[in-house]
Formats: sequence, C-alpha cells, structure tokens
Amino acid sequence: MTPLHEVIVNKKTNLTPVWIMRQAGRYLPEFRKIRKENPNFIELCLNHKLTSEITLQPVKRFNLDAAIIFSDILMLPYGLRQTVEFKKDFGPILGDLNITTMSKVDEIDFVEKIHPVYKAIKSVSLEMSIANKNTIGFVGAPWTLLVYMINQQSPKKKVKKDFFEDEYLINRVLLIIEKFLKIHIKNQIDNGANIIQIFDSWAGLLEERDYPNYIYTPTLNLVEYVKSQNIPVICFPREIKNYSEFCEIVKPDAVNIDYNVDPLMISKKIKIPVQGGMDPKILLTDQENLKKEALRYLDIFKDHPYIFNLGHGILPETNLEMVEYLTNIVRDY
Ligand code: CP3
Repeated sequence: MTPLHEVIVNKKTNLTPVWIMRQAGRYLPEFRKIRKENPNFIELCLNHKLTSEITLQPVKRFNLDAAIIFSDILMLPYGLRQTVEFKKDFGPILGDLNITTMSKVDEIDFVEKIHPVYKAIKSVSLEMSIANKNTIGFVGAPWTLLVYMINQQSPKKKVKKDFFEDEYLINRVLLIIEKFLKIHIKNQIDNGANIIQIFDSWAGLLEERDYPNYIYTPTLNLVEYVKSQNIPVICFPREIKNYSEFCEIVKPDAVNIDYNVDPLMISKKIKIPVQGGMDPKILLTDQENLKKEALRYLDIFKDHPYIFNLGHGILPETNLEMVEYLTNIVRDY
C-alpha cells in the first residue's frame, strides 16, 4: 500500500507522507520555462504531454509521495462553456454565465472539451504506481465553483453585493455543478486517480447559518459519491469556522486544515486523518524557523494519522532549497 493510503485508509501513525499544495507551479524554474512558452493557461491545461511533464516535475525533484495533476478547478466552468481566462497579476476572469447555453451541455460535450486532463492522469498514474506513490485528482467544491461562476473573478474578502439575489439561478447552477463534478471525478478515477481532494477555498466567506445549504449538503453528496467508487477523499474547507462540525457531518476520509486554525485543538477534537496546516509564508523565512514550525506540526500530530502539507498553496517566491530542507525534515522525523 502507498504511504498516503496507509495513513488515510489504515490510519497508520508510524509514517508521515508529504506532498505540497500547488507543488507544480511558479516557484519551479522548470515550470516557469514551460509557462513562458505557453502564455495561455487554459491551453496549457489542455496539453496533456506538457501537463504530465509539469505534474511530475516536483515529484522527481523532491521525491514527494504524491503527484497532484496539473490542472485547475476552473476547468469545470470551462467544460460547461463559460469562458475562463487568467490575467497576469490579477487571477481568473470568467465570462457571463449563460444558463440556457450551460443547461444544454451534456456529458459527452463536457468530457470532449476537457479530455486531455484525463489523458494526463492516465500517463502520470502509470509512473506513480511503479513508484508506490499516489495520483491525486481534484475538484473545486460546489460552493467555491459557484463563487467563481457567479462572481466571475476571485472574491478577495467578499462576493459581489447582489450575489444571492437570484435564488433560482443559484439553485440551477448548483445542480449543474454537482452533476458535472461527479462526471469529472468519475473520469479522473477511471483514468487512474487514486485519491480525490475537494478544494473549498472560499468556505470562509460564508456565515455559519449558510453552511448546511452551500457547504455541508453539496459536499456530503460528493464525498459519498467518491466513497462509492472506493477511492479515499480529502476535503479542504479553507477557513471554515468549525472543522469538527464539518468532519462530523461531511465525513471525508481525511481533512486538510488551513494555517489559521490551531493544530493542537484539531489534534484533540478531530478523529479522522489530518493533512497540512503549516503557513506557506514560513518557507520564505529561514531554515531555523522552518525547522521549528515543521517540528511543531509533526510533534502535535505524532500519534495522529497525519500527512505533511501546507495550510494553503506554496508561494511563487519560495526558494527551492527551503522546500528540499522541509521535505528532509519530514522524512528524517
Ligand atoms: O500543483 C498543484 O497543486 C496542481 C495544480 C492546481 C492549480 N490550481 C494550478 C494553477 C490546483 C490544485 C489548483 C486549484 C485551484 N485553482 C484552486 C483551489 C486551491 C486554492 O489555491 O485555493 C483555486 C481557487 C483555483 C483558481 C485559480 N487558478 C486562481 C485563483 C488562480 C490565480 C492565482 C494564482 O495562483 O496565480 C489560478 C491559476 C493557477 N492554477 C496557477 C497554477 C499553477 C498559476 C497560473 C500561472 O502560472 O500564472
């Protein structure tokens, strides 16, 4: 069994696998080179030869325990015919949401539009299985995708004022998102993804009274779907106010925590395997500080099934030697 499966499925505490959110990305010179030659991010995501190569870059460099497929959560609205662009130093910009066009997209259209994602998963997973490592497929959670599709850009601190005004639209879009997320997950699994991570990056924007409608119910549906495929599922409800309530209701196989939540409290209150937590900004400081912080997480979770990772994506300005240093600390622990 792979180290990640040992922790998630068998709840082992005698090993600590490590991978890093956004591990394939701008802090790697080999990625920046490919990125420079491919200025259109969506087109790059649809080039399966390049995305396979990019996916493997950090795994080869740091011998990480998993490859997360190089793609984006916004391939879902793209597959549903909403335009998606990435503007430098700004982030994603989505086109107007046309519910009539979107309702006409069927499973075949969707898969045809984004099938290179699955091709990349297939070739990466062949290499990972030989190396006893996992291939992580992923999706955005329904709430986070709804935020991007209606807000049409990253919300920063809050969504636009009239976000919740058209309840009919919101409910229609949520149903479409859920249907196609299942299709997207199924295709990733069928092509070799053996863990699924659900990113709810904007969970922290909601008031607690809205969690049942927008987080718990739709995420539980997806978690149950992944479990029905016999594949473990990790949830990352970033900055949710109550991780233990989330875990009790949604019941993922493991939970990724953000860097603002107290890891000691998590280790006491949460029974399921935990992943991540350390602030990615620590990697921008010095080795002494990095060692102290990494050991803090490792010590707190020493008797808990734990996968080392960060509390959010690695920053583009991160120094490679610091990543190397970190992965060695985890391996030598
Ligand atoms: O290595 C990996 O983790 C796999 C690849 C991956 C990307 N995006 C590639 C990417 C994953 C898992 C994602 C998830 C994703 N995408 C999330 C959830 C995680 C999170 O960060 O909260 C979200 C919210 C998105 C949407 C998105 N994509 C934004 C907001 C941005 C712009 C901000 C940024 O980091 O530049 C992207 C672009 C993006 N997705 C990049 C990468 C490597 C940067 C593109 C570039 O090279 O310019």
